[in-house]
Amino acid sequence: MNIMVVGGGGREHVIIKKLRENPAVEMIYALPGNGGMAGDAVCVPIGATDIDGIVRFASEHQIDYAVVAQDDPLALGCVDRLAEIGIPGFGPSADAALIESSKVFAKDLMKKYGIPTARYEVFTDMDDALRYLEEAPVPTVVKADGLALGKGVVIAQTREEAKEAVRQMMGEHKFGASGDQIVIEEFLTGPEVSVLSFTDGKTLVPMVSSMDHKRAGDGDTGLNTGGMGTVAPNPYYTEDVAEECMRSIFLPTMEAMNKEGRTFKGCLYFGLMITKDGPKVIEYNCRFGDPEAQVVLPLLKSDLLTVMQAVTEERLAEVTVEFDSGHACCVVMASEGYPVSYEKGYEITIPEEITGMTYVAGAALKDGKLVTNGGRVLGVTATAKTLAEAIEGAYAKVEKIHFDNAFYRHDIGKRAMEA
Ligand code: AMP
Ligand code: GLY
Repeated sequence: MNIMVVGGGGREHVIIKKLRENPAVEMIYALPGNGGMAGDAVCVPIGATDIDGIVRFASEHQIDYAVVAQDDPLALGCVDRLAEIGIPGFGPSADAALIESSKVFAKDLMKKYGIPTARYEVFTDMDDALRYLEEAPVPTVVKADGLALGKGVVIAQTREEAKEAVRQMMGEHKFGASGDQIVIEEFLTGPEVSVLSFTDGKTLVPMVSSMDHKRAGDGDTGLNTGGMGTVAPNPYYTEDVAEECMRSIFLPTMEAMNKEGRTFKGCLYFGLMITKDGPKVIEYNCRFGDPEAQVVLPLLKSDLLTVMQAVTEERLAEVTVEFDSGHACCVVMASEGYPVSYEKGYEITIPEEITGMTYVAGAALKDGKLVTNGGRVLGVTATAKTLAEAIEGAYAKVEKIHFDNAFYRHDIGKRAMEA
């Protein structure tokens, strides 16, 4: 089989490595992939948002199955366009991807179907939003409606901060059209849990839970990032919480999307907060999380391609989806200065024996050498029977990897250990 994976980061790398485990897989193309994947896939310089280019490539290269891993090509209808030319793919249609690409849609969906989430108001007019903030309780949360590279959420401690966020989003168009509509919502507290799930619209199978570490610095300080590390499972996601999530959040969301005529097929990601009033949805994503995938997929015992194809063909109920009972930890090695500004082009050395679970995100091949080429450079994962051993294993690997200007958090998994 010839497979195509759309995207180019660490998440795509772990997906590619898992797909490789299926003996029927002959070729894997990554569009665009990155230089660090060259041993696992053929990288093709077509951007993940170049839908015409992707569709053309697929039809010219006898692609049997496509995995669209990144949010923007999904929102742009990549899976729909491939289906039109008879190429099956993993990932939601553009209609269903709206659950991530519009926060207003997601919030209104939850309200309509009684799915627990933070209370909120939607604004299309800046002055209305500013007026509302005169009285709103703080802290408060201001969110741009559309995709904003994970930067469209502001937790405002004061009304003035909240107003500034509104002015930037709606007045100065900091995120372009993504800020034409905004959501202002209640600030919730409690531990956060990420749960990725496979769903074909009829069946929903949650994967092992995980915990992201979004802040750049140790002790959850510094700026928000795409994610500096993850552990799985998440100790706050107890059996009771899992049962309640299934009953009050996961299945109701799947059914709500069906009722709206937007059946979701693919990986539906639930960003949850376990509040004192029970689990609530912070956000939905229409794809695997990055770096959540780098801890969840290494624990998947079942064949990934088999599960993905079952999702596409709406027979998920017929396959088993099994996870290892162990633990995983992923430490992200980034470029000093991320997420603001950083230098690129430093040579990366990874000892051969630890390449297996080292997932390459921001790197390129230059004169045959692997060099840094992004903010988040590597996701270094280890799995083990206990969380403590997984953490130790991941950091032991990190110690063996070298590139100039590397920085990483030293406390990935610490909160989970304390829980
Ligand atoms: P998002 O981009 O929606 O994932 O939001 C980024 C982060 O902001 C989340 O991971 C939470 O830590 C935080 N956040 C979002 N919404 C809320 C909320 N209503 N209350 C408290 N924290 C929130
Ligand atoms: N790590 C969070 C995300 O992928 O959205």
